[in-house]
Amino acid sequence: MANSDFSNQESSNHEVHLQAALGSAPLAGHINRLLKKPEIVRARRFAQMLDGFHLKNTLTEQVDGRKAVIDGRSVVNFGSANYLGFERHPAVLEAARHALSEWGNHSGCSRIFSSHENIVRLEREIARLVGADESLICANTSQVHQGTIPALFGAAGVTIYLDRYAHTSMHQASLIAVAKGARLQRVDIRDLAAVENQFRDDSAQVKVVMIDGVYSMQGHVPEIRELQKICDRTGTILYIDDAHGIAVYGERGGGVVEMLDLSFENMILTAGLQKGLGAYGGFVAARKPVIDFLRVSSRSYIFSGTLQPQAVEGSLAAIAVCDSDEGRNLRARLKTMSKKVRQGLRELGFVVPAGDSPIVSVAMGAELKTLLAGRKLFDEGVYVNSVLYPATPKGEGLLRISLNAIHTDEEIALLMTAFSALKSYLDGYRSPLGPNFSYLKEFAGRQLRRGRRSSSEWVKKLGL
Ligand SMILES: Cc1ncc(COP(=O)(O)O)c(C=O)c1O
Repeated sequence: MANSDFSNQESSNHEVHLQAALGSAPLAGHINRLLKKPEIVRARRFAQMLDGFHLKNTLTEQVDGRKAVIDGRSVVNFGSANYLGFERHPAVLEAARHALSEWGNHSGCSRIFSSHENIVRLEREIARLVGADESLICANTSQVHQGTIPALFGAAGVTIYLDRYAHTSMHQASLIAVAKGARLQRVDIRDLAAVENQFRDDSAQVKVVMIDGVYSMQGHVPEIRELQKICDRTGTILYIDDAHGIAVYGERGGGVVEMLDLSFENMILTAGLQKGLGAYGGFVAARKPVIDFLRVSSRSYIFSGTLQPQAVEGSLAAIAVCDSDEGRNLRARLKTMSKKVRQGLRELGFVVPAGDSPIVSVAMGAELKTLLAGRKLFDEGVYVNSVLYPATPKGEGLLRISLNAIHTDEEIALLMTAFSALKSYLDGYRSPLGPNFSYLKEFAGRQLRRGRRSSSEWVKKLGL
């Protein structure tokens, strides 16, 4: 057996240290070559300097509503995309328990052979919720894209206009379509005049533009109505991923498509069940001929298993709550909370994009600053996501707050107090080695005890 050792990680938990693999096996050699890629070298330096990937690989040990124990600390969780708090809603739990006792923990085989009755019911309910003829469910949203995009658009004579900032799963799925002959053009749909010119000048037989309904990092809803008009004028198909809009927008909770009253005539909608609906799964919704075609051509649908019964019936219960007065009240509370938090953060001097979605992004800039800011908030008792490249453009790190309708007023007050403490902390930010950046000293101390380089050397190497 080849001599290979991947166990040289000096780690007491599951932090990612990105250390070189020891040994002479081909796999160790391959990993070590991959570790030389520039983006990995940079990540590796952060990992070494900050003692693991820091808030990117934390362990959640307990969850109780919005409270959680993460890496041994009790915090309020502002890092989960479960916007309406359905994960513990009594009706959802009751439905999930019922599904387990009726159907067990498994949903049979691929849907191409047979479907449980409840999943067919869920497809109908999703179609009703978003206002489409039909929907088709896959294991998650990424699987939906991987099945739908190559099946519909993987051919010569197709141009895929993919928004630069659209979710990575659409970029991955589009590469499969490219391998099957499509042309891929990355665009920035904020510049609507430029994209209209591009669509108009393109004589491809099929043109499609792909966007997010709500951008997962910035939390904004793009100009979809305008884009749909441009699509109509230029014969371009509109493909939307509304993973973050479902349950959150629209009178029924049908997402941006319902809120903007968009027609399905020339549009395909995709989204997930594990964000606003608090369950698991993904779907594509469209006119009947599109869905019929996908049932015999989406490889994710044909060659993968499907949702567990508790996710199916939990989603059905969540949709029922969504489309009730209770759901409307939860959405109204979320909107009020979003406005209040945005305004409060701006008053503290933070840069926060406009909007009313539950995703509130706070621009930080430098990556190290972003990570240290996330750590400071964590110590103040709130957990938010510290987001870096490639989820944001290089050097545009941000803190992402995910609001939840069941966050209490006290928890929102705690969030604002934590950001106020962060503001004072950042006011001392000249260099990451400045007197206020005590965390770096803490990390440096640990590095030195382990006989590694000092943090100041890493800071120089990173050019911070
Ligand atoms: C816009 C968007 N699309 C797709 C996904 C992937 O979702 P899933 O986990 O269902 O594959 C995400 C995940 O966060 C997302 O934000």
